[in-house]
Amino acid sequence: EKKKLWGGRFTGATDPLMEQFNESLSVDRRMWREDIVGSQAYARALAKAGVITNEEADTLCTGLDEVAKEWETDSFVVCDGDEDIHTANERRLSEIVGPVGGKLHTGRSRNDQVATDTRLYLVNRLKATRAMLHELIEVACARAEKESDVLMPAFTHLQNAQPVRWSHWLLSHASAWQRDDQRLNDLIPRVATLPLGSGALAGNAFGVDRQAIAKELGFVGGVCPNSMDAVSDRDFVCETLFWASLLGVHLSRWSEDLIIYGSGPFAMVKFADAYATGSSLMPQKKNPDALELLRGKSARVMGNLTTMLTVLKGLPTTYNKDLQEDKEALFDALDTTDACLQIASGVLATTEIVPERMMAGLSEDMLATDIAEYLVRRGVPFRETHHIAGAAVALSEERGVSLGNLTVDDYKSLNENFGDDVLEVFDFGRSADSRDTEGGSSTRSVLEQVDKLRAYLKTA
Ligand code: ARG
Repeated sequence: EKKKLWGGRFTGATDPLMEQFNESLSVDRRMWREDIVGSQAYARALAKAGVITNEEADTLCTGLDEVAKEWETDSFVVCDGDEDIHTANERRLSEIVGPVGGKLHTGRSRNDQVATDTRLYLVNRLKATRAMLHELIEVACARAEKESDVLMPAFTHLQNAQPVRWSHWLLSHASAWQRDDQRLNDLIPRVATLPLGSGALAGNAFGVDRQAIAKELGFVGGVCPNSMDAVSDRDFVCETLFWASLLGVHLSRWSEDLIIYGSGPFAMVKFADAYATGSSLMPQKKNPDALELLRGKSARVMGNLTTMLTVLKGLPTTYNKDLQEDKEALFDALDTTDACLQIASGVLATTEIVPERMMAGLSEDMLATDIAEYLVRRGVPFRETHHIAGAAVALSEERGVSLGNLTVDDYKSLNENFGDDVLEVFDFGRSADSRDTEGGSSTRSVLEQVDKLRAYLKTA
């Protein structure tokens, strides 16, 4: 049997089931590149500190390049004792470079190593994820610009509320996504903070220059300020999982809107074949599975957040093996989030709108507020106008006609401030365009929102 890296004080063998239970290579092997890059930076730091010679550092770095090549070409052969990516890489390095390989881990622990690798891996992933989020926001902007005029009914409590521009609805979601992007951007420096040089928990006894390592590895947040905290800290995992959970909630809400808009009685949108599926029994069916899955996937991301918070709750300070559970939760959330963002962009780009159905969903009672506002503009206090418009709604219901089919005289009989032009209120586009304040649903405002989002994307 292969000797374990930590095997000096052991005489008995590990139970085979324990071997399986303990291993994390199946999960953390995806961090092979970060583990190599982190080790190379550490080797150079050891040389700079005079712990090893420059030639030894070169040998270690070249050897690590060879190990990297094996991962890259899928020719890395995993051995029985390879517990995790750190032990696997070090074992292979020593096979390649000989005993000098044993110098690499001087002053280092897997505790500061794993935290470093995870952070490095995460920063790289989050940058790619951000690009996907930017793409989604841009798709929303492009549609909003192209379809800026289309009117649709908007709801509160899922009850008819007021007419808005479809583009305004699109941007309502893009605004939430923009906050997700800002949140992610805020988070990255806290992820990119260097634990390496913290040792097992007490710090590094060989004077490695942690600031230099941080710089070399692109840790823009600098170094973790306390070695005990550095090996305990998984805040960056929790924050990422919360970030992903909230994005999941936003994507889920957006999906639910579209599922409703595409449902039989609404039929305001039509899903592209590329993102829908059929029924094995009912030939007419076209189901919005992509959106339902987006709604469903958010649950698993929230589950991952719960996993991580629960792992941490009650752990004593510094490293405990419980922390090994962090990566499965994190990686699953990252993979899920990336898939969700790409699918969401695809759905958003390809869903067709049916403007006639949107118009059909608009009813004149959705302009009751506009009737009240008409009177406000003629000096009547809003609280009174609300009642007068309410009386108009009651009268229209009593007559069995729409608000716009009451006559000018009907309105005049309700209040003397109604003029001959009152029926001009019954124009859904005019209603939307009257809400022209910054952030409102007028076409002008919508196009302004697009401009601002695009300006944001340029600097983000
Ligand atoms: N595989 C471990 C993890 O993922 C690496 C750290 C192990 N450290 C230790 N002292 N056993 O957390």
